[in-house]
Amino acid sequence: MWEQLSVAVIGAGMAGRSHAAAYRMVNTVFGAGLPPIRLAAIADANSVLAEDAARRYGYEKALPTWEAVVEDPSIDAVSIVVGNALHRPIAEALVAAGKHVLCEKPLAGSMEDGRAMVALEKDANVVTAVGYTYRRSPAIAAIRDHVRNGELGELTLFNGRYWCDYACNPRGPLTWRFKGGPGSGALGDVGAHVIDLAEYICGPIVAVSGGVLSTQIPKRPMPVGAVVGHAEAPVSSEMGEVENEDTAMFSARFQSGLKASISVSRTAFGMPNGLALDVYGLTGRASFDFHRPAEYLFDDIQPEARTRGVRQVIVGPQLPYFRGGYPMEAPGVGIGNQEMFIYQNRAFLDQVVGTPDPVPPNGSFAHGLHNMEIIEAIVRSAQSDGAPAAVATHS
Ligand SMILES: NC(=O)c1ccc[n+]([C@@H]2O[C@H](COP(=O)([O-])OP(=O)(O)OC[C@H]3O[C@@H](n4cnc5c(N)ncnc54)[C@H](O)[C@@H]3O)[C@@H](O)[C@H]2O)c1
Repeated sequence: MWEQLSVAVIGAGMAGRSHAAAYRMVNTVFGAGLPPIRLAAIADANSVLAEDAARRYGYEKALPTWEAVVEDPSIDAVSIVVGNALHRPIAEALVAAGKHVLCEKPLAGSMEDGRAMVALEKDANVVTAVGYTYRRSPAIAAIRDHVRNGELGELTLFNGRYWCDYACNPRGPLTWRFKGGPGSGALGDVGAHVIDLAEYICGPIVAVSGGVLSTQIPKRPMPVGAVVGHAEAPVSSEMGEVENEDTAMFSARFQSGLKASISVSRTAFGMPNGLALDVYGLTGRASFDFHRPAEYLFDDIQPEARTRGVRQVIVGPQLPYFRGGYPMEAPGVGIGNQEMFIYQNRAFLDQVVGTPDPVPPNGSFAHGLHNMEIIEAIVRSAQSDGAPAAVATHS
């Protein structure tokens, strides 16, 4: 049916390159479910970045605007990988042009935009997906399986954290990441991931409490040129306001009654990408730390008491994603950030062509809005001295 599938990436920054690289690899994993992939275009307002990414990753052309992707009738499926405030206008135009869309998290730059995107997808005849890459980690997927299989027994505690240090330097430029209201800072940037993982493993969150938001560096210098991701860049002497939180903490209550404690930060010195979680139950526990992505810790009730104790499980073909998802299918050879983008984008294109489930599909825009609604509840809790706040439902 599909002779080929033409893909494009909008945004050639930090995560845009990960999407660009992922589409190159999607047909190398999980069998032959997809048609040939045509790497059609990379668009970025910064044409130097767009051209460099197109050359590196083997795309046919670099485009100077996202509108040029919308106007190209040969393009079938597109990743939106630019600052969050641009997600809605780009998604609206792509869907109107009949293109399938994979949007980066958080779904949108505001609740209003997020709701508009969900309204858009209700009548859409295309796939509208939002990506949460970390749920594609084999170790995290395995922990979820342990929980779902009841191996940990009744859950008693979830602790999650995503601590980064990319904003520790007060001379770091005021990029789009520091703009937008409360909730669009560390919560939207990295909190979106750990909140998604909490629900992926433990089920829906229905309420939060104890919300605390803080901003350690309230003003930052303006950049004088382009900035990629968290990179250092030349700055001017002019300062601008940081509009959102550097750090946030909260408790969450799941539909099951389980409670969680979660904290996020972009000013946690020495933590380049400190995503970690622990889940405990009455008969077992599991722990993961992304600084050691090829392993997780596990313990459960063993019949032989002398062998009790926490075990280091090395990621390998016995776990989700690894078999068929890694060129060298040998235990202990590692797993990295880029594989998770390959699995995510493979799932998206499988959704587009309707290939039966080699890997779980991405969530819809509605899933992305739910994640934002949890963040919005954390902000409400913080604004009322930590009072409990129910998570709103959009449907
Ligand atoms: N899943 C993950 O692990 C992950 C990691 C990082 C970022 N992200 C998400 O990806 C998105 C992009 O983040 P990033 O770190 O790559 O940002 P970035 O700042 O590195 O890159 C954004 C790019 O968008 C370009 N751009 C700006 N305005 C544009 C326009 N009008 N038209 C075309 N291009 C334009 C910029 O020139 C820049 O190259 C965000 O939504 C972010 O939350 C996800």
